Amino acid sequence: MKTVLVTGGAGFIGSHVVVELVKAGYRPVIIDNFSNSERPVIRALQTLLNQEVTLYDCDYQNNKKLKEIGETERPIGVIHFAAFKAVNESVKQPLKYYDNNVAGLIKLMKFIKALTKLKHFVYSSSCMVYGEPDQLPVKEDSPWKPATSPYGTTKQMGETISSDTTVVSKHFNALSLRYFNPIGAHASALIGELPIGKPQNLVPFITQTAAKKQSSLTVFGNDYPTPDGSCIRDYIHVVDLAKAHVKALMHLEEKPPAYYDVFNIGTGHGSSVLEVIKTFEQVTDQKLMYTIGPRRLGDLTATYASIDKARKVLNWKAEKSLAEALSDAWRWQQKLA
Ligand code: WQD
Repeated sequence: MKTVLVTGGAGFIGSHVVVELVKAGYRPVIIDNFSNSERPVIRALQTLLNQEVTLYDCDYQNNKKLKEIGETERPIGVIHFAAFKAVNESVKQPLKYYDNNVAGLIKLMKFIKALTKLKHFVYSSSCMVYGEPDQLPVKEDSPWKPATSPYGTTKQMGETISSDTTVVSKHFNALSLRYFNPIGAHASALIGELPIGKPQNLVPFITQTAAKKQSSLTVFGNDYPTPDGSCIRDYIHVVDLAKAHVKALMHLEEKPPAYYDVFNIGTGHGSSVLEVIKTFEQVTDQKLMYTIGPRRLGDLTATYASIDKARKVLNWKAEKSLAEALSDAWRWQQKLA
């Protein structure tokens, strides 16, 4: 069986990818230090998959341990999720972000470079690499603007490090997947997003407000140059996003060493904050408490993905609707509450 190391495999996206890898016949091996995830996720994965899941409870930056894992598990690939992702926090603690997301990635690439049997690398990137796009939908070859936060800069640097290392490699190839806004949860409600403290992202804030864990949602600005004045994003169901990783691996298996490419992973459709709220109210049949507040610093006005390249090259497209994603997010929230 083909073993794939999944750093950050206990996290929101990583855990859903573990499920899809198993379903596609791969053997995921999780490396996670639970700095932003919880141990019961592993038990939930085992229940969902009805099988044991191999876990190394350690920091992916622990070189010695990583070497041991490489020798024991003989992976054919690595999918790298272990990174920090809170935009606001990255502004306040940039070194924390450069250390884990950039210095950590350099160590990981050295490990991959040394493991000559390892053939594939998938890097978790972000639509944040584009900055505020000039044209919508945003295409993969759009020029990068300065990132709006240190987090965004780490993703630009991460893609550069991945690509520069890959194109001179004799034994591995790689892809960067630029995620738009992943939301939702597994339909089983066994795994989902576990925000620590007050949620920063829209959908967990909505579900926690509906669950009365937050008193009211603030819409950050209704004076943007968009049809209803609120910001527009491309919200993608996390299970669709997870499936894109399987397609990415399958694609890399057909490609020679040193091949590198980038793909947008979104639905191709933009939804405004007010539309997301309205859809949530419709699918859950309830009114949400919200007020309009000032703009949030550093927010983009609008972004959504051009999805042609992923469809043509990876043979992947998102299948689940915003309504389905919000309904799954709500089911997960109710289970947590
Ligand atoms: C969405 C919209 C807010 C909270 C995220 C991740 C980032 C990156 C890309 C991967 C915005 C508005 C939010 C609230 C609101 N992912 N909002 N009230 O900023 O697009 O970035 O996706 O790299 O890691 O953070 O997502 O969910 O924070 O915001 O009105 O309480 O919802 O202004 O327009 P964002 P988000």
